Amino acid sequence: MRILVTGGAGFIGSALVRHLVNEIGAEVLNVDALTYAGNLASLKSVEAAPNYQFLRADICDHARMQEAFASFRPDIVMHLAAESHVDRSISGAADFIQTNIVGTFSLLDAARHYWDRLDACSKSAFRFLHVSTDEVYGSLGDQGLFEETTPYDPSSPYSASKAASDHLAIAWHRTYGLPVVVSNCSNNYGPFHFPEKLIPLMILNALEGKPLPVYGNGANIRDWLYVEDHARALFTIASRGRLGEKYNVGGRNERRNIDVVHRICAILDGVYQDKGPHARLITNVTDRPGHDARYAIDASKLESELGWKAQETFETGIEKTVQWYLENEWWWRPLRENVYSGERLGVFKGR
Ligand code: NAD
Ligand code: DAU
Repeated sequence: MRILVTGGAGFIGSALVRHLVNEIGAEVLNVDALTYAGNLASLKSVEAAPNYQFLRADICDHARMQEAFASFRPDIVMHLAAESHVDRSISGAADFIQTNIVGTFSLLDAARHYWDRLDACSKSAFRFLHVSTDEVYGSLGDQGLFEETTPYDPSSPYSASKAASDHLAIAWHRTYGLPVVVSNCSNNYGPFHFPEKLIPLMILNALEGKPLPVYGNGANIRDWLYVEDHARALFTIASRGRLGEKYNVGGRNERRNIDVVHRICAILDGVYQDKGPHARLITNVTDRPGHDARYAIDASKLESELGWKAQETFETGIEKTVQWYLENEWWWRPLRENVYSGERLGVFKGR
């Protein structure tokens, strides 16, 4: 089985590539532009594997995407390449529009061109998984869950760009018959998570005795999924999901942000008893503009139709994650020193 993964040097993409290369034994071509968020160090464990190849290319470059399809001849495409950070999309949306919308169009079009010319058997076996987010659904109140039928209502430039790309992917199925399936997942966490996102930022700031910036009052709720559970879900959906359908992915792990931060502090207090309590570093800061109050996923379609289930609870996953950052300074230290050192993003005057 030949799988073309886009964004495989990112957080979820690298977990997926490790899963496909090591556990599934697929032939993988990882197509990634290596933006600030792409990091080949996350792929050290597979870089020498005979079933792994890397192509540095921008998905917006239509000619290069066509060449990649023609030379690699994938059976499955798993499209993860994106600009993914809400705060950066508030500071400047141009890259989000370009990669998430124009880039997805470019990839869909290259895929259609390739798929149209396959023989009947390969054509009917081909799959294009478009990987998306629960943020396209907007914000929940205290009750209810996001279902696949929940109307789209994105709040940020990031989620609006992902919503647009979801519509493009489904349109390529309905109009051209391209065998597309879409997944919408909740917040991921785990090893190799770029330290601009809540959980790695809190772990690394706490280790360095820096403030832990909680937006607003910290009562916003996210539904956390361990990244390796997501990687398994993605392969399940790509290989067995029904065409033209969407599948929500989540682990039923809703937590308030403030409780997540307290849990990280408590784990670190247990490791570094002389440096605690780390919770003294928690600092309430200006809220994120357009901050969604609550995300919570109903993953029963994926669970009942395709038999996937999250293996980690938040309690087991967060212990593993903190431990991973303690043991892997070689991975995060260069990022903190050379790429992003933790300054606040996504606030602007007048808000
Ligand atoms: P990430 O930011 O860690 O990685 C994105 C990867 O895409 C990077 O390797 C980057 O170099 C690459 N990339 C960016 N622009 C590109 C371009 N123009 N051409 C080629 N490669 C490019 O993102 P992530 O957190 O791993 O998210 C992966 C996907 O999953 C995204 O589509 C995101 O919307 C979606 N998603 C993320 C989460 C989450 O919690 N992180 C949850 C649900 C869905
Ligand atoms: O829900 C899925 C989405 O989850 C993905 O589509 C996105 O790609 C991914 O980045 C993530 O988006 P969030 O905005 O939810 O993640 P982030 O880690 O940026 O923030 C999580 C919550 O923590 C959110 O409510 C904002 C808050 N936060 C974040 C940071 C970085 C803080 O309170 N302080 C912070 O410093």
